[in-house]
Amino acid sequence: MIPLWVQLAYLLAAICFILALKGLSGPKTARQGNIIGAVGATIATIAVFFQDEDGLDNVPLIIIAVLIGSVAGVVGAYKVQMVQMPQLVALFNGVGGGAASLVALLELNSITGFLDGLTSQGASNEVAEATPTMMLVFTVFTIFVGAVSFAGSCITFGKLQEILPTRPMVFPGLPFAFAGSFIVAVIFAVMLVDSPSMLLGILVALLGLAVGVLLVLPVGGADVPIVISLLNAFTGLTVAAGGYVLGNTLLLVAGTLVGASGTLLTILMARGMGRSVVNTLFGALKGGSTLGAGEASDRPVQSAGPEDVAVMLAYADRVIIVPGYGLAVAQAQHTLRELVEQLQARDIEVDYAIHPVAGRMPGHMNVLLAEAQVPYEQLKEMDDINGDFKDADVVLIVGANDVVNPAAKTTPGAPIYGMPILSADEAKKIVFMKRSMRPGFAGIENELLFDPKTTLLFGDAKDTMGKLLNAVKAQ
Ligand code: TAP
Repeated sequence: MIPLWVQLAYLLAAICFILALKGLSGPKTARQGNIIGAVGATIATIAVFFQDEDGLDNVPLIIIAVLIGSVAGVVGAYKVQMVQMPQLVALFNGVGGGAASLVALLELNSITGFLDGLTSQGASNEVAEATPTMMLVFTVFTIFVGAVSFAGSCITFGKLQEILPTRPMVFPGLPFAFAGSFIVAVIFAVMLVDSPSMLLGILVALLGLAVGVLLVLPVGGADVPIVISLLNAFTGLTVAAGGYVLGNTLLLVAGTLVGASGTLLTILMARGMGRSVVNTLFGALKGGSTLGAGEASDRPVQSAGPEDVAVMLAYADRVIIVPGYGLAVAQAQHTLRELVEQLQARDIEVDYAIHPVAGRMPGHMNVLLAEAQVPYEQLKEMDDINGDFKDADVVLIVGANDVVNPAAKTTPGAPIYGMPILSADEAKKIVFMKRSMRPGFAGIENELLFDPKTTLLFGDAKDTMGKLLNAVKAQ
């Protein structure tokens, strides 16, 4: 029986998690939501030590593990750059799924008495026989889906960190390997529920790892955020099932919250990129989205210096800024805000056009520009500003590429085909600020770079933005 005060602590933690989600849904309350969530997690972590009236086994080992995890988490969170946040989320998510899978394997071990060996085999078989089927179903689900989530998250980490190629990675026979691993895992899972065995449990976990890798390898870089969110939902479901297995209501609640919010986020992001979740995952297997070798183009383009671009801006009535990943890498957001203030002081109407997946995580540009004190009203969502591009004299694209790439509309088979884009191509003049002719994250050429209306201002965005600001001031 769980002591009453521990049950109340769990209830408090669950309320904290719900309030945290509510807080995280808006930029003004997000920081507060984060703190409330952390308080809930701390309460839950402490309370679990007192859940068992007989006390926990191996407390010193658990405390050492908690300390190692806490130090790694704090150091990692302080050290990681804003642009690397999605990788960190992918890693944390994978670790959660992997941990749930291991815990379920340990539960299976206690059901089958595998590690107790021969001496208690008779007794453990009785335990196995007495274990309700539902319990075994949830255990095997946790083992499998947790392993999928762990392996899949490791691959998304590799893609985002560019340790692995970001383009879809397919090889002959991949669909068969994927389907084969999945079907065999389901057969083993059914056998395991019928007669619990640790060996089958380990095989299901290994097949889960294979399915996770094969599921994510063919996903193109541009779709990785959707997959991270989907794996996050998987981890949530795994943790919820783990809560059932362990008889821990808080895990059940927390896992369900993560599973539900991850699923909603996945659907919303897929909608934002104009594709279904199924197409995101399996599009490349159909031979579709495999374009994009990521090579820099050597076709001729029109480039100019900061002074020429300053003249263009100074004579404009309406300017739209398109910020992207490169702005975040260069940390040029403060100089960009100063430039915009200079233009506004000359009665030029300026807005920032925010694409839902600009940068490397949902809301990346909003956070980046809010940090630079850009007033929230100047940030315009894609649907609200797309009609205005045709009236813009200049669109200034700072370190963005995929989010304005017309291939999303014109090239079936391109990794970003179907993704709604900012209509920068409709502006009277287009300026790209980037360092080279290398493509964006999706690894495909952007025809807009070669448009006669387009001028390229080459260089690191922070450096060129500083020069552009000085040139505008000198006008
Ligand atoms: P990208 O298409 O990745 O383009 C970024 C551009 O910035 C590149 O063309 C790069 O060109 C330039 N750049 C990089 N460093 C720079 C620097 N220091 N100074 C100046 N320019 C620099 O970015 P985007 O348009 O923002 O699109 C986002 C992409 O990431 C989409 O494909 C999206 O699907 C994907 N993604 C998004 C998320 C979320 S949820 N936001 C998560 C993961 C992936 P050079 O190398 O020539 O400079």
